[in-house]
Amino acid sequence: MEASVELKTRELKPGFGAQILDVDLATADEATRAAVVDTFHRFGAIVLRGQTLKPDELVAFVAEFGEPEDHTQQQYTLPGYPKIFILSNKRVDGKPIGAHNDGVGWHTDYSYKEEPVMCTMLYAVEVPGEGADTLLADLCAAYQALPEARKHALDGLKLHHSYQYFMETRQYGRTTLSPELKAANPDVIHPLVRTHPADGRKALWPSTGTVKEVVGMPNPQGLALIDELVEFCTQEQFVYRHQWQVGDVLVWDNRCTLHTGTLFDDTKYTRLMHRLWARGDKPF
Ligand code: SIN
Repeated sequence: MEASVELKTRELKPGFGAQILDVDLATADEATRAAVVDTFHRFGAIVLRGQTLKPDELVAFVAEFGEPEDHTQQQYTLPGYPKIFILSNKRVDGKPIGAHNDGVGWHTDYSYKEEPVMCTMLYAVEVPGEGADTLLADLCAAYQALPEARKHALDGLKLHHSYQYFMETRQYGRTTLSPELKAANPDVIHPLVRTHPADGRKALWPSTGTVKEVVGMPNPQGLALIDELVEFCTQEQFVYRHQWQVGDVLVWDNRCTLHTGTLFDDTKYTRLMHRLWARGDKPF
């Protein structure tokens, strides 16, 4: 649907991301919601504050961006809502209700799949008094900032992503994969420089965690290159820091961003976030 509603917006960073003001998603009409999705596509990330969304409404909202995607670890989804993943340090009857510190480390979601998710939506249910910010890096701006010779040297490089490698080496939540999860998540190869399918912009698209090697480059040089590029992309000039309030909705485009969660004092505070994904396509 063509967006015909003019929204009040404020850039999150010059040229990247927008906060959308004065929209209540629970009551917004179809044209307003279409304008919200359109703003997301134009800015690469959106923030809406002060929302009150029930699980069904969250699923309906993410479906406006694309088909809701399943989550790899189904044990942490909201009961009755397989498309809503819980990020939390809370426990009920001694058992974790969600994944804790799951997104800490610069990455792009579902990069270990043939078709990584297009967008990620986070909805804040409970937030710590300090810490647990989410950081987004603008990868098109990072690519643009590279010297031309470096762009040429990096264009065409391919990365080997592996869910098994990620889960067995990650800092938080390290685990050995079950045979079922291993079979469901075979390794994939994706380009280091990704073209945005909507407008042809190029993004430097490394990720930490799932990248096992740069194809054709031995380690440790390959992983050292990834570390160097991630450090380059995540310099302050390319990064938006989101400081959460209850009721915030943050949506970002994984095709042109990296993101990371940050730590908080989990002996003092609880955090409870709902995460939803919309399907993406094969990177090129
Ligand atoms: C994520 O990486 O999916 C979540 C980031 C966060 O918890 O802030």
